[in-house]
Amino acid sequence: MTDAFEKDPLVLFMPSGKRGRFAIGTPVLEAARQLGVYVESVCGGRATCGRCQVEVQEGNFAKHGITSSNDHISPIGPKEERYDRVRGLPEGRRLSCSATVQGDLVIDVPQDTVVNAQVVRKAASDRVIERNAAVQLCYVEVEQPDMHKPLGDLDRLKAVLEKDWGWKDLLIAPHLIPQIQSILRKGEWGVTAAIHRDMDSSRPFIVGLWPGLKNEAYGIACDIGSTTIAMHLVSLLSGRIVGSSGASNPQIRFGEDLMSRVSYVMMNPDGREAMTKAVREAVNGLIGKVCEEGGVDRHDILDSVFVANPIMHHLFVGIDPTELGQAPFALAVSGALQYWASDIDIDINRGARLYMLPCIAGHVGADAAGATLSEGPYRQDKMMLLVDVGTNAEIVLGNRERVVAASSPTGPAFEGAEISCGQRAAPGAIERVRIDTVTLEPKYRVIGVDKWSDEDGFEEAAAAVGVTGICGSAIIEVVAEMYLSGVISEDGVVDGAMAEKSHRIIANGRTFSYLLRDGEPKITVTQNDIRAIQLAKAALYAGIKLLMEKQGVDKVDTIRFAGAFGSFIDPKYAMVLGLIPDCELTEVKAVGNAAGTGALMALLNRDHRREIEATVKKIEKIETALEPHFQQLFIDAMAMPNKVDPFPELAKVVTLPEKKAVNQDGGEDGGRRRRRSRG
Ligand code: FES
Repeated sequence: MTDAFEKDPLVLFMPSGKRGRFAIGTPVLEAARQLGVYVESVCGGRATCGRCQVEVQEGNFAKHGITSSNDHISPIGPKEERYDRVRGLPEGRRLSCSATVQGDLVIDVPQDTVVNAQVVRKAASDRVIERNAAVQLCYVEVEQPDMHKPLGDLDRLKAVLEKDWGWKDLLIAPHLIPQIQSILRKGEWGVTAAIHRDMDSSRPFIVGLWPGLKNEAYGIACDIGSTTIAMHLVSLLSGRIVGSSGASNPQIRFGEDLMSRVSYVMMNPDGREAMTKAVREAVNGLIGKVCEEGGVDRHDILDSVFVANPIMHHLFVGIDPTELGQAPFALAVSGALQYWASDIDIDINRGARLYMLPCIAGHVGADAAGATLSEGPYRQDKMMLLVDVGTNAEIVLGNRERVVAASSPTGPAFEGAEISCGQRAAPGAIERVRIDTVTLEPKYRVIGVDKWSDEDGFEEAAAAVGVTGICGSAIIEVVAEMYLSGVISEDGVVDGAMAEKSHRIIANGRTFSYLLRDGEPKITVTQNDIRAIQLAKAALYAGIKLLMEKQGVDKVDTIRFAGAFGSFIDPKYAMVLGLIPDCELTEVKAVGNAAGTGALMALLNRDHRREIEATVKKIEKIETALEPHFQQLFIDAMAMPNKVDPFPELAKVVTLPEKKAVNQDGGEDGGRRRRRSRG
């Protein structure tokens, strides 16, 4: 391309849109290389691996000034014919190492070999993600030994890797050295080397060596959460996810939440070791599971990327997390980490590497960094709020100009803990609730039952599952619906006066409860339950508001809910409750395990590692506990949706009730008018 002439054919690669002029006869793979378009190749252009497939798009592409046709690429030659005969080439596909440029071309690098569909979906709004894995497979034919040339087998291997693939200054994983001679001879001097290079500035490493052509390598992307560990097994060559699975974090037996696990470490001399061992064993178990699902040998896994909250991160790599349990919440290390996977006892290929994304702050971990990479607030102009709600909410707010982050101790209420009838999402848990504003009668849905509770056949179906409690999504909905129907005031007090109107309002000592389901067990929402939800939502909202103040904005443009919790809650009810600030409802989206998607991106493309490392350095960390203003924001956020903040977007879709204050004894408290009114 460098010495291209204007009359040379123009070649445009899709979906990247990169283009350039190339002399007639240039292999299409070579053109892609020169433009920095990622097209896989293992066999080094011998037309045996089939990894370099592309398609010609025919037609007149006026916008680009290109008329592309199959006549503008060389006809199928003997190498492609042979590949087609032996392995089969799908209709329309060409091997870009063999096909050459003969005229103007639009070349499609098929999506299934560029990037996994899930990653595309997540990031489709802003860019196409191209693969550039840290591990590359390179097939070479090594010169045979010659008595007149004293170079060793390894040295000749390195020489040909430099000649054919351009790898200079290669290092080799020590465990491979004793195996080199047998592998070379077994492969009759044709071998595939796995080369790992993370940073351009770092020396490349031979991390794997196989006789003959090795045509597949895998990686794992793993998110270690306090309750769940989630993992993807992905082909490093095609980007295809071949297995995904999750498992409970066995550390739960040492403590339900993060702080109790830190306490366990502090109080038990072997606590840290025990928890490290438990989580590593669980990760190894999960690797077995995803490998079984994908039909993959775990020793074909050559790279791994992990994200986790700071305490899980420290325990996984074997660091005592005690410092994270108290101010100033010092991380032992905040930057990205690189290991041999075997150093962390991860049972995959012995030469496999392990990369951990950087942590943002003492309570905002590598998982939040992963979610940030996935959703990319820093890549856009909109003010994006990214929230991952767990027992500790991680909050990131920003845009291209500036990103700020904080965490807020929401506690386990959203997960059903601390709620009298709360439970984790499982069959038998109430997951949706509606309350009639006139009769105050509820209807609800239960996990495992298709019908709403007011539909025929519900009771029979429910009896089969057994209605056992309320899960997180329904807790949000029931409290929001109680507010919308006037059962509770904006301050969250159950209005005892309503007891005259409905048998659903029942006295419970000095306070009142709402009877959601009469039966066995009785499911009620008590005043204490509402308080627990108010405390949790106020902690989250106050954290968000603090970040909004730091950014100098009173409105966010778009909201992304990461994590399992976010996938199940209805944004409208989250807003009625005042869990999140006012925003156009269509701009509130659940993005699932965004942290895991970020890990996947860092696995498939090492440039994303540099991107998030640089981004995390620029993110401003806010420690909510140190902000004197936080307390006032918290108090204001106890009200529904908020004591002082307006919710104009929400008001467009929901009729918010008139304000009425109710005192704790259930009587209306008209005399004590609030000093400040909402918007
Ligand atoms: Fe292997 Fe083309 S590079 S078939």
